Amino acid sequence: MLRTPDEVERMRRAGAAAAEVLLEVGPEVLPGVTTDHLDEVVHEATIARGGYPSPLNYRGYPKSVCTSVNEVICHGIPDSRPLADGDIVNVDVTIFLDGVHGDTSVTFAVGDLTDHDRMLVAETRVAMDEGIAAVAPGQPVCAIGRAIERHARRHGLGIVREFIGHGIGTEFHSGLQVPHYHDPRASTILVPGMTFTVEPMLTLGDPSCGMWDDDWTAVTLDGRRTAQFEHTVLVTEDGVELLTVASDGTVPADAFALPAAV
Ligand code: MF3
Ligand code: CO
Ligand code: CO
Repeated sequence: MLRTPDEVERMRRAGAAAAEVLLEVGPEVLPGVTTDHLDEVVHEATIARGGYPSPLNYRGYPKSVCTSVNEVICHGIPDSRPLADGDIVNVDVTIFLDGVHGDTSVTFAVGDLTDHDRMLVAETRVAMDEGIAAVAPGQPVCAIGRAIERHARRHGLGIVREFIGHGIGTEFHSGLQVPHYHDPRASTILVPGMTFTVEPMLTLGDPSCGMWDDDWTAVTLDGRRTAQFEHTVLVTEDGVELLTVASDGTVPADAFALPAAV
């Protein structure tokens, strides 16, 4: 479950590449653009960096990225529907580079959002940050979900339970499970060298989850909107390091931060 120093170094590069792919696709997220186009941009940007798009053919997944619009919780499959003004879309990029994976996502605003949707997106990002801030050696994994749950409650947001953060490294999904709600059974103690994702999915309504008959697209049963942000992180000697940050230090979620509500 622990990464070697060499693996950590490679994960920094894979993480940076994943973040840079998100930075490249972000400006393409506009009204009228199809999620198939976003898939093409992510595919090309991934290949251009010498990587492979981890989702492609992963357990039969048909595309190079997940694009989850509005009530889609996660694992939305890119298609020919054009994005519309007021939509929200999570773009979840994973790259396999030099033998390791980097996994990161942002929820983008398509044009102008309602204040309510803006709150959902902004507070989901803060919830992820709070979860990551709880990562430190000696802490149990459940400290992450506890911090996320505290923030979600404060804003009246639901937390999806069916999909959780995961260990990541030479494998896309490995070992460690990271719930985004407080689960005392997640009692594994964090130690330096662990790498995993923190990727909360928060909802405006009930977080109960359904599945389209494509066996991938997870949606809220009540049809209300849901947002997600994701980083791959490393437990360090004194805390946590974000691995999915561009090589110039840019964090994609900051680059595409929502305009402040008026
Ligand atoms: N990137 C997703 C995650 O955060 C996994 C996508 S699996 C796929 O774990 F097959 F849908 F791509
Ligand atoms: Co992930
Ligand atoms: Co992901």
